Parts: sequence; C-alpha cells; structure tokens
Amino acid sequence: MPRPCAAVNSPAPNTRSDMDIAISAAELRARVSAWRREGASIGFVPTMGNLHQGHFSLVDLARRNADRVVASIYVNPTQFGPSEDFERYPRTPEADRAGLIEHGCDLLFAPTAEVLYPFGTGTTVRVDVPVVSDPLEGAIRPGHFIGVATVVAKLFNLVQADIAVFGRKDYQQLLVVQRMVADLCLPIEIVPAPIEREANGLAMSSRNQYLTPDERVRAGAIYATLAEMQRALQDGQSISVVEAMAHEKLIAAGLEPDYATVRRADDLRPPEGLGEERVALIAARIGRTRLIDNLPA
Ligand code: PAJ
Repeated sequence: MPRPCAAVNSPAPNTRSDMDIAISAAELRARVSAWRREGASIGFVPTMGNLHQGHFSLVDLARRNADRVVASIYVNPTQFGPSEDFERYPRTPEADRAGLIEHGCDLLFAPTAEVLYPFGTGTTVRVDVPVVSDPLEGAIRPGHFIGVATVVAKLFNLVQADIAVFGRKDYQQLLVVQRMVADLCLPIEIVPAPIEREANGLAMSSRNQYLTPDERVRAGAIYATLAEMQRALQDGQSISVVEAMAHEKLIAAGLEPDYATVRRADDLRPPEGLGEERVALIAARIGRTRLIDNLPA
C-alpha cells in the first residue's frame, strides 16, 4: 500500500498553509496523476535542498509556467567526488519546507536513496552526456555530470512534469540537461532561470555559507571579474588577453582560479569566429570553498 500523502485536498495554488510531501514513487505518482486527470500542467524544480532565493526564484518561475509545482530535495551522492563535501553538504529540511510553502510549491518530493537507486549507487544505470560534460567542471570533477544526468533522468521519469526549471548559475549543468533531454527524446521542456545574486554580485549558492565574512566580501571579485571580461570583450580585446586579465584579478583578490575562460555558449568549446554566442565562466577556490559563476560575453 502506498503511504498516504500529508494532505489530500489541495486548495487553490498560492493560498496554502501546508504542502504535500511525497517520499515514495507511489505517493508522488498518485498526486501527480490526480493533477493530470484535472488537466493541470506540472512544473518541476530539482534541488539538493538548503534552499535560498536562487532556488525560490526557480519555484516562482515554475509557478508562472505551470499549474502545479513539484520541487525535489535530494543530496545526490553520485555527483560528489570522493574528496568533495557530500557529508558536510548543508541539510536544512525544516527551513526548506517553510520556504517552499511560502513560494506556493504544491508538492515536495524528498525521496530516500532506495527510491532513486534501487540497485545501489555502484551498479546504477548511468547516463553519460558526451561533449558538453567534458570540459571545465567535467574535467575538474570527473564523473560529476554522469551523476547529475543520471539522477535528473530518474527524477524526470518519476515526476513526469511538462517543464523543469534549471538555473543559469550552473551553466554547464543546464547544457548537459538540455542535451540529455534532446538526445534521449525526453518529453519535457527545460526552462532556464536567471542567476540570483547577493548585493556585491556574488551568485547565491548553498556553498556560500562555508565562507567567512571576509571571504564572502572577497568572493565578490568573481562577479566583478566576469563583468570586466564582458566589458573587455565588447571593447574588442582578444580572448587570451581577457582570460589572462581575469586570472590576475582573481589571484589579486586572494582567490585561486580553476578556470576563467570564454567559451561558445551552446557547447562550451573555444570560440572560433565572430557572431557566436559566448559565455564567460569562472570557477575559483577561496579557502576551502569552491564557487562557480558565469555571464554572457
Ligand atoms: P542545487 O545546487 O540545489 O541547485 C538546484 C537548482 O537551483 C539548479 O538548477 C541551480 O542552477 C539553481 N540555482 C542555484 N543557485 C542559483 C542562483 N543563485 N540563481 C539561480 N539559480 C540557482 O543543481 C543541483 O542542485 C543538482 O545538481 C541537481 C540538478 C538537483 C541534481 O542533483
């Protein structure tokens, strides 16, 4: 018998004081298929929790694009490397739940590992998206995008949404998911969402809370550098000069860049000619924390 959902009769969207929570696939499917029978469209926002305004802006965007909104919270072990922060990744279920209710989310899907990895993480079917997964984050975090694509494919199959919202903050992840959807013919539309930032330009991230107050100030150099890369390219500077300038600027602010680069916006290969859409991307470490950000260039 499927476990019953927390609440059964849902009032009109955005007037709720509570939200359904589904743990199992059966609970999720019962709720979503009831909405489908009512003719409602479904929007989906996958997350790893510790929600902030960046995540909530995705929920808001999903609300504007669909009748019902499902958010998921699952800290996915297969996308973390062995020396990464899976164990210490911030988990704040109560605050997350309150924030989702405030933003009019209809259903929280919070699966256990057994739901997503019934055969264990080591022997799971894996989804590997070539080319767009290879450079930048994929080169520095081997296997990361296999973990992301695998869990997102599973979540898409479970939720059966019409649209899913992904932030531009994780630009390469957005490309990987778009490519997976196109190549596997998944019946879902990916809606990109703009980057939410702090007052000093720092892109909001769950990992920002690892930063000391001083590091948080210095991390503002990432956005400042991206903005300067954008300006310098508009002024006609060459990509190699712009990339060198960006590295210097980050190092001067006490950050250790993994990359500061200009790529083609559609496949992250180095730009080849004029008229290509481009994106400037930075990954930099500050103390123990690794941050990523990007701007159109
Ligand atoms: P997470 O890091 O929790 O991010 C969930 C979604 O929120 C992603 O689409 C991400 O791009 C978006 N997001 C985070 N910070 C943002 C910001 N400042 N502005 C706009 N959007 C922002 O990304 C993941 O989780 C996972 O890899 C996941 C897709 C859930 C698969 O496990």
